[in-house]
Amino acid sequence: MAFSSLLQWCLIFVLFRSAFAQLSEDYYALTCPQVNSIIKDEMTNILRKEPGMGGSLVHLHFHDCGVSGCDASILLDDTPSVAGEKSAALNQNSTWGYEAIDQIKARVEKECPGIVSCADILTVAARDSIVGLGGPTWTVPLGRKDSLEPHRFMTNLLGALFIGNLETLILAFKLKGFSTEEFVALTGSHTIGRARCTTFRKRIYEETNIDPSFAKATQVHCPRQGNDGDRIPIDCTTPYVFDNAYFKNLMQQKGLLDIDQELYTGKGGPADAIVANYSANQDNFFKEYTTAILKFGQIGVLTGNDGEVRINCRKVNAPKA
Ligand SMILES: *[C@@H]1O[C@H](CO)[C@@H](O)[C@H](O)[C@H]1NC(C)=O
Ligand SMILES: *[C@@H]1O[C@H](CO)[C@@H](O)[C@H](O)[C@H]1NC(C)=O
Repeated sequence: MAFSSLLQWCLIFVLFRSAFAQLSEDYYALTCPQVNSIIKDEMTNILRKEPGMGGSLVHLHFHDCGVSGCDASILLDDTPSVAGEKSAALNQNSTWGYEAIDQIKARVEKECPGIVSCADILTVAARDSIVGLGGPTWTVPLGRKDSLEPHRFMTNLLGALFIGNLETLILAFKLKGFSTEEFVALTGSHTIGRARCTTFRKRIYEETNIDPSFAKATQVHCPRQGNDGDRIPIDCTTPYVFDNAYFKNLMQQKGLLDIDQELYTGKGGPADAIVANYSANQDNFFKEYTTAILKFGQIGVLTGNDGEVRINCRKVNAPKA
C-alpha cells in the first residue's frame, strides 16, 4: 500500500514536468518533401505482408512517447555499458516492429540522408498504420529530434499503465492534458492490437466479468500451461480493422485484458458512458481519437538543438571527429 502510493506520487511528479514544444507540418518541405509519401509507401508494403504490424507500431509509438516523450528512445539497442528501454521489463516481449522502422529509415536515408529523425518516422508510421487499416487520418506535425540516451527507469505514462487501476490511469492522462474521453479513445488503439497469452490467462480461466463463450473460445489459443508467448488479436471480431468493434466487445464483456474490461463495468464506472458512446457511434470515437493521438505524438518532444537526427535508429551517432 505504502509502496504503491509512493509510486503514484513519483508518477505525478514526473507527469507535471512535460510540455508541448514547437513542431510544424512543413518542417521537411525544403529538405525532404517526399518524406510522407516514402513512409506511406513502405507502410503499405509492410501492412500487406503482415497486417498485425500496424497494431505493433502504434503500440511501439505508445511505449516510446509514454516514457520520456516521443524521442525514439525506445529504438536504441542495449550497448555493453548502457541498458536500453527495449530490454526493460515493461517492454520485453511486449514491443515489436523495430525491423519495420529500420526498413522505413533505410529508404528515407537513401533519399534524404541525415535529415529525418527516427522519432518523426515512428510517429508517422503509427499514423499510417491506423489509416492503412481503415481508421481516421490527421496531419502529423514534424521536427522531433532523437534522444541521446535511453530512459530505462523513467516510467511516466507507461508506469501508470502498470500500476494499473482505471482511476490512476485517468488521472495520469489528465495530468498530461488528456480528458477522460480522450484517454478512453486512445485505448481504442487496441482495436488493432494483439496480446500475449500470459497477459490474459488469469482473466479467461478465473474471472467472472467475462462472456463465458468468449472465454472458452479464447482458451483454445491459450491453454492453462504453455503457449505463453502466443499473441492473439485483442478485438477478435475485426482484428486488423481500425473500427469501434473494440468498444462493442467491451459492452458484451468480451474485453481480452483486464485493463480493457475495466473501461466498461455496466455498473456506472467512470468510463462506461464513454464506451457506450463510442460503441454506438464510430464517428465520435474517431473524432476524439484524432484529437488525442495528435497531442499524444507531441509529448515531451526534443526540438531545435536538443537531441540529434540518428542515422541508425538503433544507436546514437558517433561523435563528430
Ligand atoms: C520474455 O520471454 C522469454 C522467452 O519466452 C522469457 O524467458 C522471459 O522471461 C520473458 N520476459 C518477460 C519480462 O516476460
Ligand atoms: C459522445 O461523444 C461525442 C464526441 O466526443 C460528444 O460530442 C458527445 O457529447 C458524446 N455524447 C454523449 C451522450 O456523451
